[in-house]
This record gives sequence, C-alpha cells and structure tokens, in this order.
Amino acid sequence: MNIILLGPPGAGKGTQSRRLSENLKIPQISTGDLLRAARKEKTDLGLKAESYMLSGKLVPDDLVIQMIREKLKTPECHQGYILDGFPRTLDQAKALDQTLAGNGSVIDHVVDIQVKSEEIVNRLSGRRQCSKCSENFHVIFHPSKVEGVCDRCQGQLFQREDDKESVIRKRLEVYQKQTSPLVAYYQQKGILKSVQGTGSIDDIFKEVVKAVQ
Ligand code: AP5
Repeated sequence: MNIILLGPPGAGKGTQSRRLSENLKIPQISTGDLLRAARKEKTDLGLKAESYMLSGKLVPDDLVIQMIREKLKTPECHQGYILDGFPRTLDQAKALDQTLAGNGSVIDHVVDIQVKSEEIVNRLSGRRQCSKCSENFHVIFHPSKVEGVCDRCQGQLFQREDDKESVIRKRLEVYQKQTSPLVAYYQQKGILKSVQGTGSIDDIFKEVVKAVQ
C-alpha cells in the first residue's frame, strides 16, 4: 500500500505516520527528516537545502524529486510506504505520478490532516524531536517521560531551528500558497480522505487507520 499524509506544518503528519508505519509494517518516508539528515552530514544536497529550510521556504523541486526517486528505488520501499511531507507542490505530485506510472504502481490513499493555524503555532513552538529516531514530543501536549530524553530510544531531544514563531508563520504561508492546491488535485483523483487533526493523538490515529482501510 502506498500512502501520502498531507496537511500543514504541525498537523501531526510525522506523529501519525510513525504509528501507521508500525501498524502497517511499511516504512515512513519523511522528506523533512531526509533533508535534516543530509544537512547534518553536510552532503551537497544538505548544503543546498539549508538556507531554504531555515527560512521556512520549500527546497527546490528538482532536488527533492531526485532525493525521493532514489529513496523509492530502495528495497525497503518495495512493499509500500507512507510519504510524510512529499509531495508539497503540484510539480512534485506530477513527478511522483510519472515515477509511479513507470513502475506500474499508484498511490492508494491520501490522508489530509486538518488543523487550524493558531493551534499549529502552539504545537510547533513546544515541539521537541529526538536526535536519534526523530520521534516527536511536545512539552505540554505529549511530553516525554523523562525531560529531554526520547521514550522510544533514549536519544536526546532538541528543538528544531525552524520551530521559531516567525519561521512557523512563513511555513504556514508557504503551505497555503504551494501545498494546499494538492487537496483538490487528489480529490479529483478520488483518493483523498480528510481527517480532523485536533483531539487526542490516539483518537486521530483511529481515524487515520479507518481512512486507509
Ligand atoms: P518537515 O519536517 O516536513 O516539516 P513540516 O511539514 O512543516 O511538518 P512538521 O514536521 O513541522 O509537522 P508534522 O505535521 O509532521 O507534525 P508533528 O507530528 O511533528 O519539513 C521541514 C522543511 O523541510 C520544510 O519547511 C522545507 O524547507 C523542507 N521540505 C521538506 N519536505 C519538502 C518537500 N517535499 N519539498 C520542498 N521542501 C521540503 O507534530 C507537531 C507537534 O504537535 C509535535 O510536538 C507533536 O507532539 C504535537 N502533536 C501532534 N499531534 C497532536 C495532537 N493531536 N494534539 C496536540 N499536539 C499534537
């Protein structure tokens, strides 16, 4: 099964796709995590992506499309995958369609997680992410058992550099302009399901599971 999780920054795509990945036993592919790893390793891609990510803009399509095409070729993706944070523009969505058509494959479900902007600012300004496994926590809404330490792998938690209020607002603006048109794109294909993204993480997860069944 090939699944896309859509939604604005902070909607819970990472939180829900990690749970879905464990549940369906297919990998979660987060373009944000892949790009952050590339930055950490100071690869050519990471160096090119850095200034866009720090300012809340999208990394250019050609770089991200190339990165995802390579990832989808790897054996771990052959039984299906969950795309988290890709596609984010119409050109990315069309490039993904082309790649899949070349493999005789399709996207089965697109789940759009809906959350209002003000809730998003609260969520992202309190987010803490694991430096080892990328699991997300929140200082109030979803705290780790031991402050600063990941519940899953005991890695150290950190605050993302793009989780500052000014950058969060830029990311929301970019989402509205460049990513939200994908809702209509996948609606027209008849594969879009919308899920209300406010409430408990467990309740939202039940709705996400229903949406992909
Ligand atoms: P990326 O890392 O993908 O960031 P994003 O899309 O902005 O999404 P987030 O990771 O911020 O949020 P999320 O929806 O995963 O929410 P989460 O589960 O963490 O991208 C970063 C940057 O990389 C981009 O700005 C861009 O520059 C670049 N990039 C990435 N992909 C790209 C692409 N395809 N093209 C071009 N550029 C690209 O939850 C957020 C917080 O809320 C957490 O603290 C969590 O604990 C909490 N939370 C979750 N659910 C709930 C709930 N139900 N109630 C209360 N709190 C909750």
